[in-house]
Amino acid sequence: MGLDSSVLIRDLVGLTASWRSLYSHSASVETSVVGTHVLSTLVAGGLAIAHDRGTLRAGRWTPAIQEHQLAELHMVHRTIVVALAICLLSGLAFFASDVKTYIVSVPFWIKMALIAMLLGNALIMTATERDLRVDAGAGAAAAWTRIRASSIVSALLWLAIVFVSVVLSLSK
Ligand code: HEM
Repeated sequence: MGLDSSVLIRDLVGLTASWRSLYSHSASVETSVVGTHVLSTLVAGGLAIAHDRGTLRAGRWTPAIQEHQLAELHMVHRTIVVALAICLLSGLAFFASDVKTYIVSVPFWIKMALIAMLLGNALIMTATERDLRVDAGAGAAAAWTRIRASSIVSALLWLAIVFVSVVLSLSK
């Protein structure tokens, strides 16, 4: 590891020292962080996968029900974004509780890469969904294909993130 990165790690360890001490000496703080992380994962991931499943089935539905599915997708975004933000913040608290261990953990960095992919895919999905709401005409078939592909990617990424998190948890 280069000199710059070891200085950065040392700074991060120093910066998070009081949080690490509080976290490791207080069962209620640890329980709150783990509980918040797992519950927000359940809400964000559960809602996302349920709606991904709806989008995948929408090809067989009438245009009116497809429109309803698009409206549902639009409405559920805010709840998913709030739950995901709580998940990311509690994840950060988890990370800060033991920087030295996580920063050199391969499963941790695989998980971060998967989360970046999940966020990128969410942006593509939101843009496609917007296209479908404003234009139900000529480009709609291609947009439905694109949004179905995004839904498959989204569901697979959620499952992969939870799996890698379990590996991370057991590999400490
Ligand atoms: C989509 C976002 C995320 C999901 C679905 C997710 C899911 C999970 C799950 C299910 C666990 C296992 C909890 C346990 O074993 O008690 C976990 C643990 C963990 N997560 Fe996340 N997480 C996410 C985001 C993050 C982020 C952004 C970070 C860091 C910045 C993070 C850091 C951690 C750490 C450090 C652990 C603890 C592993 C251990 O027990 O040592 N997570 N996560």
